[in-house]
Amino acid sequence: MTTTTSSAYTRALGARLLSEANDLKRTAEALASEMGLPLDYLESAIAGALQPDEYRSLFQAVAARYPIAFGRLWMEPGDTQAGVLHLTVEDACASSRIFSRKDRAGNLTPYYEYRDSAMSRSAPFRPEWIRELRVVGDADPGNPDVAYNKGHFLHQTTFFVGPVNFYWEVGGRKRGAELTTGDSNYITPFWPHSFTSRDPDQLALIIAVTYGGEVARGREELARLGAASLPALTLEMRNEAAAHAALLNRHLVNEAMPRARFVDRCVLAGLAAERVEALLDGRALPANGETAAMAEVLAVTPRDLLAPTRRADEEVIILRHADAEVYPYPGPQNQAYEITRLARSRQQPYLKSFILRTLPGRRGAELTVLLHQFLYNFGGEPVRLTARHRDAEREIVLAPGDSAYVLPLTVCRFDAMSDRSGEIYMVGVQGDLHADAVFELSGMAPSGLNRVAGETTRWF
Ligand SMILES: [Fe+2]
Repeated sequence: MTTTTSSAYTRALGARLLSEANDLKRTAEALASEMGLPLDYLESAIAGALQPDEYRSLFQAVAARYPIAFGRLWMEPGDTQAGVLHLTVEDACASSRIFSRKDRAGNLTPYYEYRDSAMSRSAPFRPEWIRELRVVGDADPGNPDVAYNKGHFLHQTTFFVGPVNFYWEVGGRKRGAELTTGDSNYITPFWPHSFTSRDPDQLALIIAVTYGGEVARGREELARLGAASLPALTLEMRNEAAAHAALLNRHLVNEAMPRARFVDRCVLAGLAAERVEALLDGRALPANGETAAMAEVLAVTPRDLLAPTRRADEEVIILRHADAEVYPYPGPQNQAYEITRLARSRQQPYLKSFILRTLPGRRGAELTVLLHQFLYNFGGEPVRLTARHRDAEREIVLAPGDSAYVLPLTVCRFDAMSDRSGEIYMVGVQGDLHADAVFELSGMAPSGLNRVAGETTRWF
């Protein structure tokens, strides 16, 4: 049963148990006696000395006995080595699936070939290699050979390789664009879209990186509240004044602050009553000073009153390679890479995609980011990736068509392996530590920070 060996993974599971037991004001003795389990078993569990399967059963028993969700106790094992999970082009090919959609005659014919790309349990994204099999003779978004999807829950950023047509439908209006290698896009969740090829003799493919964002983490609560709750939860993000007003009014509701009282308090803070009324009604946009004054009255920060609204041209964003910003990295004097900055969305400030070109004869520069990274070699040359995570290091050859997932805070270096440049498509996406979590973490008492990643002590 109980073993004396532990790993970083089982120690982390033990720390999760200790942390939740702390919050319930239970010691190992209390857990053992209330659950009818031997004390040494509970002590071994907290010390990280059980097997993962034993933790699973124990956590199920804990979740059944106490008001703790199983998901708050359990964590998945890691699947990277030195911070990297590598998928070769051969493995990707072996996962090939072809899906058909109706053509203009109503016949089901091949539309996309899907292949897996490097996917990790710890990664927030699901990248797919998708080859366009439907060939069209024009870019008409109404072409009956173009089969749109229904749109999806996940955010999507797409990288284009070869003669690919992209189509999208926003607010009932269909549009199309002829895109090619190096072009990129961002698609807001649930807008229908599609991709076709313009040339049967060329490889036409996309790399679609999809991810769930913050809403994915709130899905359990949304499911519990039900679809009927959505009007009360959402803001009119496509109407700037209305969105700001709705957010402000929501703070008043949460604060149990009558409107007249709020207006009076704002007047005392130096604002004009009619301005505050207009802001509450969505008839005006707040100036920075007004936002600061209202935030003070509500005991929140100005940031809490700013809704990230969106313009019509932000629903689907296309950036052609020819219009993309290209620059030497880290600088012109010591250039190691050529970086191309791909499509950006202001509403997804932590979605960062690039083309990284390695330069023959130049040693790669070290890159470390806090984002989860996806890499795909879309060029014709292999690239050597040297990765270091904590004290582990490894070297991987990313052959053309290979992909990789890289954990946050992994130090990466990319080197050309021949006299030609290597070309890597690189995407960074935020994981569970979104901006608010980072602010909260950073504000904690510094003396306790070493206990955040894994509780080490009984604190009460
Ligand atoms: Fe999609």
